[in-house]
Amino acid sequence: MAVILDGKTVAQKIKDEIRDEVSRIRSAGGRVPHLAAVLVGDDGASQTYVAGKVKACEYVGFRSTLKKFDAGISEEKLLSVVKELNDDAGTDGYIVQLPLPGHISSQKVVENINPVKDVDGFHPVNVGRMVKNLPSYISATPFGVLKLLEYYKVPTAGKDCVIIGRSDIVGTPLSILLSRKAEPGNCTVTLCHSRTRDIASFSRKADIVVAALGQPEFLRGSMIKEGAVVIDVGITRVPDPASPKGYVLKGDAKFDEIEPRAGYITPVPGGVGVMTIAALLWNTLLAAQRKIYS
Ligand SMILES: NC(=O)c1ccc[n+]([C@@H]2O[C@H](COP(=O)([O-])OP(=O)(O)OC[C@H]3O[C@@H](n4cnc5c(N)ncnc54)[C@H](OP(=O)(O)O)[C@@H]3O)[C@@H](O)[C@H]2O)c1
Repeated sequence: MAVILDGKTVAQKIKDEIRDEVSRIRSAGGRVPHLAAVLVGDDGASQTYVAGKVKACEYVGFRSTLKKFDAGISEEKLLSVVKELNDDAGTDGYIVQLPLPGHISSQKVVENINPVKDVDGFHPVNVGRMVKNLPSYISATPFGVLKLLEYYKVPTAGKDCVIIGRSDIVGTPLSILLSRKAEPGNCTVTLCHSRTRDIASFSRKADIVVAALGQPEFLRGSMIKEGAVVIDVGITRVPDPASPKGYVLKGDAKFDEIEPRAGYITPVPGGVGVMTIAALLWNTLLAAQRKIYS
């Protein structure tokens, strides 16, 4: 039976730590951190995510500002909003909720965010600093994986780690973070993708397997070794008429086959995914305290 790496518990602990720090700042007469969010359009999932972020700010005692625009906003106008936020000394960090409508280049918008305020950690400067092992904002999903490993004191040094999926927001940054000279880290990492021949031949030898490919239940029990650490990043809505929502959330690992064999496993939901907001709050605190860029 595997130890469950419980994201809800760890995320709550991080939020409580941040809340304590905000109380200290307030009692010392300091300015509380201020996070702004830019939301474009009326995509239901984006609205839910942003509402969750605003609520979390209230919980920890941050100031928050929500800037909402309709889906027809021009790229030029959105870039002027980004500039205003860059110039506003009262805003410590901000996010532009993705995805953006098709007529707006997300890349251009992200590249116009001042890296100092880029608490999502998507700007190339922050990615580059992460690669060079310099202080940087680590984006939500890799942050969530590192914090779970750290909280549960999962040994990583010298371990063989296989990551399945090489996207620029999950697999690729995680491959860098887990292989760097740090704790958690010091792994020997193999990065698998859709062109990898015989993924099972790699995953079966690994001490740590990260499934981040977006293929529900791709990783089967027979693809891991006894006692392996399995980090399931995948979240896919799979239609299910029996569920009140009409769908169920599935990870990239087949939990019922893997859990009896693994040493540790993250559940879906309640594993890596719930760490996202904690990551954003953490980065905002770092921004307010000038811990990344002095
Ligand atoms: N927990 C969270 O907070 C969180 C955050 C972000 C994403 N996610 C979830 O994580 C999953 C991955 O997201 P993503 O944004 O990284 O996805 P993505 O951009 O679609 O990238 C998927 C990666 O998996 C590889 N891949 C796809 N099918 C494969 C297969 N059959 N065999 C081997 N490799 C395969 C792709 O290979 P190629 O490069 O060769 O195409 C690509 O590198 C999704 O379920 C997503 O919803 C969760």
